[in-house]
Parts: sequence; structure tokens; C-alpha cells
Amino acid sequence: MTLSSTADLLTAARTARRAVAAFNVITLEHAEGIVAGAEQAGTPVILQISENAVTFHEGRVLPIALASRAVAEAAGVPVSLHLDHVESEALLHRAADAGFSSVMFDASHAPYAENVDRTRSAAEWAHRNGLLIEAELGQVGGKDGVHLGAHEPGARTDPGEAAAYVAATGVDALAVAVGSSHAMTERTAGLDFDLIARLRDAVPVPLVLHGSSGVPDDTLAKGVREGIVKVNIGTALNIAYTGAVREFLAADGKAVDPRKYLKPARLALAETAAQLLAVVS
Ligand code: G3H
Ligand code: ZN
Repeated sequence: MTLSSTADLLTAARTARRAVAAFNVITLEHAEGIVAGAEQAGTPVILQISENAVTFHEGRVLPIALASRAVAEAAGVPVSLHLDHVESEALLHRAADAGFSSVMFDASHAPYAENVDRTRSAAEWAHRNGLLIEAELGQVGGKDGVHLGAHEPGARTDPGEAAAYVAATGVDALAVAVGSSHAMTERTAGLDFDLIARLRDAVPVPLVLHGSSGVPDDTLAKGVREGIVKVNIGTALNIAYTGAVREFLAADGKAVDPRKYLKPARLALAETAAQLLAVVS
């Protein structure tokens, strides 16, 4: 199937009052497992590669992006490519060449005025190059080990400020802080449903939930019903993937061929992706 665009996937999901899951790709097996999970669930999916993943690949975006693209093009369901949590303008400017149809530019850690300025410039560049751009207002904690308390400034996105931010920057999708936190390994996060509904009514663009691994299924499903359109998930897949590797190597301490343990890892990841897709899609 030809590569889909994130814009088309988000528009279709929003119209159907459902969401599209965007899963983090770190290795080729992630991309293969995510697409296998989406095929199992029979739903579209977004493959997203973060700036941190690019750093892991020694700063080279093309090898993992082009491999993911090839996996997407061989898929039996619609798949798009998204460049996630980009903090560097240099990486942003590589996005179009690498086959991404969307990018999340993340200046959420900066003071409001700087966030607006840098994001507006990023949006102008993205639109000149035909990309959808997502940005974040309020801080979804947990990224790179930085955690916010529930009542710290930035731990919740204000609807009025969100509307002004979207108007000032021209972004096409907005990541909001509504209770989730990155890198949770237990599914104990609650979402502020009332705030999601107020943000949905205040903001003209699709809302994005980051840090969705820590959100239980029923809470995730209600968050989607209240207006979340893109659901970002990374850690949940890595729990499945690493758990399967650990289990295999614990049972066979002499294994040396990576295919032996990466195959069950990819299968476990696919199963988790399929289950989460069934919740949000
Ligand atoms: O942008 C990516 C996500 O927000 C993933 O967060 O690893 O906590 O699921 P997570
Ligand atoms: Zn995120």
C-alpha cells in the first residue's frame, strides 16, 4: 500500500470520533511489529521516530526512516511516518527528505513567548514543505526523566492559552497536558476528561495525547471519546519487547543468534500494538 499522510489519517479518525495510534519506532523490529499489529487489528497506524531515537542511531535519521518507510509501503493497512519530539531545527529540516508527512516540534520546555516564536518558524517551514506540524503546550512530564507534579505550572494545558497558541503558531495538531506522563511502566495515570472536552471545544485542531503507555484501556477509550485524536505510545511496546527478550534469554543462557530472541520480541510487540489499536481506533 502506498504511504499515507498523517493529515489524512487524523482527518479520518476525527470525523469518525476515533483516534489513530502513533507508536515509537527504535529498531527495524519495532516498525515490523507495529505494522503486523495494525494488520491484525485492521486499522491505520502512525510509525513515529523521535529525535532521541535518531540520536540512538548516531544522529543518522535516514537509515531508520527509510527502513520504516519500506515497512509502511509493504503494509496491508494505511501507515504514515511521523518525526517526533524534535527539538533541533537542524533535524526538523531533514524531515521532508526522509519521507515524513508530519513532525512534532517540541519547544514545550521553553518559556511561552520563546515556544511561540520557535514553533511559528517551525510551522512556516513545515507548511512550505508540505508537512503537518504538531506542537506541545503545557508539559507532559516524564520525558528524559523530568517529572512534573500534578499541580506544577505546565502540568495541565489551559484551554484559553491553547487556543491563542494555535492561532499564534499556525500548528495543525496540539499535544496537551491532561494527566498522562511519559515513560510510565504501570498503567495508573488518570486523565482529566473535563479538560479534554474543554480543550476540544476551544482548539480548532486535533488533540494529541503523549505518554499514553501509563493510561489504562478504559481511561484511554474515554479520552478518545472526549476528543483525543492521536494517541502516542512508546513504553508499552518496549515493555513487551524487552520482556520477551528477557524471558527467552533467561530460558536459554547459551543463545547467541539475535533472531532467536528478536522474533518473540517482535511478536510480543505486535500483540501489544494490536490490543492498544483495538482500544483507540
Ligand atoms: O511521543 C511519544 C510518546 O508520548 C510515548 O510516551 O513512552 O510514555 O508511551 P510513552
Ligand atoms: Zn511524547
